[in-house]
Amino acid sequence: MKKIAVFASGSGTNFQAIADAVKIGDLQAEIVLFVCDRPGAYSIERAQNEQVPQFVFSAKDYAGKAEYERVILQRLKESGAEYIILAGFMRLIGPTLLKEFEGRIINIHPSLLPAFPGKDAIGQALSANVKVSGVTVHFVDEGMDTGPIIAQASVEIDEGETLESLQKKIHEVEHRLYPQVLQNLFYAKMVEN
Ligand code: GAR
Repeated sequence: MKKIAVFASGSGTNFQAIADAVKIGDLQAEIVLFVCDRPGAYSIERAQNEQVPQFVFSAKDYAGKAEYERVILQRLKESGAEYIILAGFMRLIGPTLLKEFEGRIINIHPSLLPAFPGKDAIGQALSANVKVSGVTVHFVDEGMDTGPIIAQASVEIDEGETLESLQKKIHEVEHRLYPQVLQNLFYAKMVEN
């Protein structure tokens, strides 16, 4: 069983998809820690319901990124987490966590990277009038949505598509893709050998 920590900032539908995949055995992992930077986010309630230990913080209570990341790192070590899974965590990961978890931090982003990095990727795709967007799962480096790509899935943008309708389509793909990609990443090598 891989021990994973899931980080989120928002509603946590991807956290839920991962937790559900764990429960039915599609993802052989244990969520040992949930980290959230927005007190009041709905994802916190989800983590509570799933009885996952939590660390919730406000960046403004710390002198800077290095300070709060040191506290997160301590919690990660205590939990035994082997991987950090970003699921809508809207802060750049800094050197403190990158150094300790090199090659073991994974992110999901709602576009076909390198198109539309950063915030509001779905809105950016709509404004650009592209006909296809999608989802990318990638390793995290020091950049904004720039690390090596692990998997991508496309989503067609229909005539008259709205932010809400595209968001729904992208979320459906994310919820299917993320647990699958993690399972492959954790165990594909073991099956091959
Ligand atoms: C997801 O669509 C995820 O791809 C995106 O935030 C959303 C979180 O939704 N992440 C990024 O934009 C990262 N740059 P959720 O809280 O319902 O899982």
